[in-house]
Amino acid sequence: MNALSPTPGQLALARDLADGGRRKAVPGITYVEASAYTDPARYAAEQQRLFARLPLVIAPSALLPERNMAVPHDGFGKPLLITRDKAGDAHVFLNVCRHRGTRLVEGSEAVATPRLVCPYHAWSYTLDGALAGVPRPDAFPGLDKCDYGLKRLPTREAGGLIWFSFDEQADFSEAEALAEDFAAFDLAGQHLFRRHTHDVPANWKLVMDAFLESYHLARLHAATIGPFFKDGVSTADAIGPHQRSAVGREIEAKALAAGDWETLRRAITYTYQMFPGTVLIVSPDYINLMVLMPQSPGRVLVEDFMLVPEAPTTDKALAHWEKSWKLLDGGVFGAEDFRACALGQEGLASGAVERVTLGTLESGIRLFHYAVESRLA
Ligand code: FES
Ligand SMILES: [Fe+2]
Repeated sequence: MNALSPTPGQLALARDLADGGRRKAVPGITYVEASAYTDPARYAAEQQRLFARLPLVIAPSALLPERNMAVPHDGFGKPLLITRDKAGDAHVFLNVCRHRGTRLVEGSEAVATPRLVCPYHAWSYTLDGALAGVPRPDAFPGLDKCDYGLKRLPTREAGGLIWFSFDEQADFSEAEALAEDFAAFDLAGQHLFRRHTHDVPANWKLVMDAFLESYHLARLHAATIGPFFKDGVSTADAIGPHQRSAVGREIEAKALAAGDWETLRRAITYTYQMFPGTVLIVSPDYINLMVLMPQSPGRVLVEDFMLVPEAPTTDKALAHWEKSWKLLDGGVFGAEDFRACALGQEGLASGAVERVTLGTLESGIRLFHYAVESRLA
């Protein structure tokens, strides 16, 4: 096992927390217009300028742990297929047969196979997207198989995440800039323990907002994880358009000085808010990745992946992770955070408040909305 160590940026946040945490970016009260969460024209613009153009996280690398695997994915409005080919490379394809357009792989579970066979006329494809076989080839005189590979979208695997874009010109450099931080958590070496998609009746930005402030931790999560944290002790910075934040318990000066990563990770929860719609939360012994897939102004699908250091091999280990999964996915996220988002959407849609008011513990939300607004301008 290689010794993991924090990046300079992660250490800087730990030092900030040891100093009591601070938020320098936005000093006073700020606001976000309620219409940002409810206006259909605003939603359409976000789809066009953000989700149709930017690199998006689609899954952790651990979703496809072996070569020759494929997983259908339908959350982004088009039938997609995530694969890992026989050389180990990840791809995102349109899940559409090139013969007559039939959906190639059904369902949403991972399949392990060296060939994907279309259910209609059995054209078959290798997992790098190449058309491998056509039954009765005599019926297609002159057909060049090279012209009939699956339609591939730009894909990049970095730091344990698979990114893709609907835009052929997408620039993945900012996605890759995060890889060093994720290597410090060995994100690429994690095992996928569970995944679950939440259907949340709220604007997608309300879900991002919930992971951009620690103000609610001691309150909304009072019965679950709230008591683990010091109220309002948090800090954050940015990596390109992405935010990186830290909330903490007591940090030992000794561990900080020594850069003792094990101890620091137990004392600090790091969260990455990747632009536009992905959240990675690093708990002391497991990691949650949340991929947001907006469906309408008032609805978002959130796929929660729980990653653990290795596949459980004993009943005790299994029970341990099961308990964490239920606490986080069912309790903290499902019954608390996403519930609060749904209640927020109901209220904002009523027109009762023209704008939401953000205190200094919530300035990360304002920064996120600046980033959205600047790309719509
Ligand atoms: S549509 Fe796929 S083989 Fe015909
Ligand atoms: Fe929360």
